Amino acid sequence: MRSDKLRQLFIDFFKTKGHKEIPSSSLIPENDPTVLFTTAGMHPLVPYLMGCQKHPMGKRLVNCQKCIRTQDIDEIGDESHTTFFEMLGNWSIGDYFKEEAIDISWEFLTGKQWLGLDRNKIAVSIFKGDEDAPFDADSKKIWLRKGLKENRIAAFSKEKNWWGPAGSTGPCGPDTEMFFYVGSHDLPPENSNPETDEKNWLEIWNDVFMEYNKTGDGKFIPLAQKNVDTGLGLERVACILQGKKDIYKIELFSPIISKIEELSLKSYDDVLYVKSFRVIADHIRAAVFILGDNRAIVPSNVDQGYVLRRYIRRIIRHGRLLGIEDKFCPLLAEVVIGIMKNPWNELEDNRLFILSELAAEEERFGKTINQGLKEFEKMMTGYEQAYRATGKKPDIIPGKHAFRLYDTYGFPLEMTEELAREKGLKVDEEGFAKCYGEHQEKSRAGAEKKFKSGLENSSDKVIRLHTATHLLHKALKIVLGEHVQQRGSNITAERLRFDFSHPDKLTETQIKEVEDIVNGVIKRSYDVKYEQMTPEQAKKSGAVGLFDDKYGETVTVYSMGDFSKEICTGPHVGNTAELGHFRITKEQSSSSGIRRIRAVLEDAT
Ligand code: SER
Repeated sequence: MRSDKLRQLFIDFFKTKGHKEIPSSSLIPENDPTVLFTTAGMHPLVPYLMGCQKHPMGKRLVNCQKCIRTQDIDEIGDESHTTFFEMLGNWSIGDYFKEEAIDISWEFLTGKQWLGLDRNKIAVSIFKGDEDAPFDADSKKIWLRKGLKENRIAAFSKEKNWWGPAGSTGPCGPDTEMFFYVGSHDLPPENSNPETDEKNWLEIWNDVFMEYNKTGDGKFIPLAQKNVDTGLGLERVACILQGKKDIYKIELFSPIISKIEELSLKSYDDVLYVKSFRVIADHIRAAVFILGDNRAIVPSNVDQGYVLRRYIRRIIRHGRLLGIEDKFCPLLAEVVIGIMKNPWNELEDNRLFILSELAAEEERFGKTINQGLKEFEKMMTGYEQAYRATGKKPDIIPGKHAFRLYDTYGFPLEMTEELAREKGLKVDEEGFAKCYGEHQEKSRAGAEKKFKSGLENSSDKVIRLHTATHLLHKALKIVLGEHVQQRGSNITAERLRFDFSHPDKLTETQIKEVEDIVNGVIKRSYDVKYEQMTPEQAKKSGAVGLFDDKYGETVTVYSMGDFSKEICTGPHVGNTAELGHFRITKEQSSSSGIRRIRAVLEDAT
């Protein structure tokens, strides 16, 4: 079964169970500075899982979500891990719970008209219990009723059998994970399960029973409602259905692998090279999807832009290991777009942007990588000589050396760490951070420190842009009219992006007026205040908001002087003076009747 068929089958199956399909959300979480990328389909559903709001599509939802998990970056190289992947998920928002969730999962996995997997090759894991939550006896009972043998049920602690919260607080709970046997026997041996025989079981699906809220002080409080949040790895299940052991051999990857073979004249089946092939194939998918998400992220030295840079530079380095010296990222990206543009048509829409950003980053790093690698080898020779002279075996690369590779040759710290690992060495990260800090200070020297909080970090930037978004919203209403309504907001450390309803292109004068109004309010140094009230009170008070049923009983209203009043969950700066200078960088159409503005905050002069 091809992946596109699997994607569709999953959605169709859940529709027969009363689920509504919701679109995949962006890879860059909206207005959530606590995580860089969407790691699971549940991210955008947090307010609904918490019970604060009702989802407009109801209590049963299903989708295919694009995800990136950078924490798995070091695992890339084996047969089953990728950092970019597609997650098929279904949710019960305070509707069905364990019994029905497990029933449905089992039916999809083993039902003849669905996946029809051999039930003798399935094992599961359940939560063992600890001081926060009890042993999951219910799930065990339900699995036994399904006919699963006791020795196919493993029990693990929180480390493995608990999911969430996605950030540091929020909905989470024990889970039950489903595994498929990938060992060499026809059938798994009697006592084999994910605990006794871990490497022969591939995790394919996870049903999370989200009934707890992890609070800021680390406690687990029962949620008002019991939810189910599941995630099935599309590539892994496709791999099983296609009778493969290696995820990189399924049809979503094989054309990429073939292209790398063609460019490098090396073989994927050569053990010397297989890791580099996999790193390149995984990372190019991730890079293409980040760039193609909404053109919001380009390679840079902070946040998502830095992750993107690491991906691209690592592709280039592993390309060199395979002997590829010419520019090749755009060629691979073309292949990725070809495979993935259906259903991810944003890749086709943003094709030129993706290709040109990849080409530009490859151009930049292409100039320095070979010298940098030579410099690294020189460092190694230096350590070797010191070793011979002193008899003391070096085991660490000094921070200042790693910083030289970063600063002069553009080697992300993680790349130097990878190079170091290959030589059995570590990098002095603290030393690196110190050099980095000193360098930052130097380049700031003379520049006035404008913010009370001292050094800004990326989440400060996001918060400032968030406050600026409120001012922009109000200024647009003043300049264009009260019909202007927010239709979307997306903030990174670099810029805000705001979608709103308005039929025409803004004129230059209108843009200038909006900027002037926002900058005027910034200069007036309004304190940002907030109060809590009911949605009715908020409406009466004139606060901006979408007064439909998505609000709970109380809402928070943020105001800045008498200029702006808006329902929002925050966070915001304390005073508008912290924003600096507001500038609109782009105004364009987003879709019919919707305009899109990008804007930045610059240092005030
Ligand atoms: N959030 C859970 C996971 O990522 C289920 O979707 O496994």
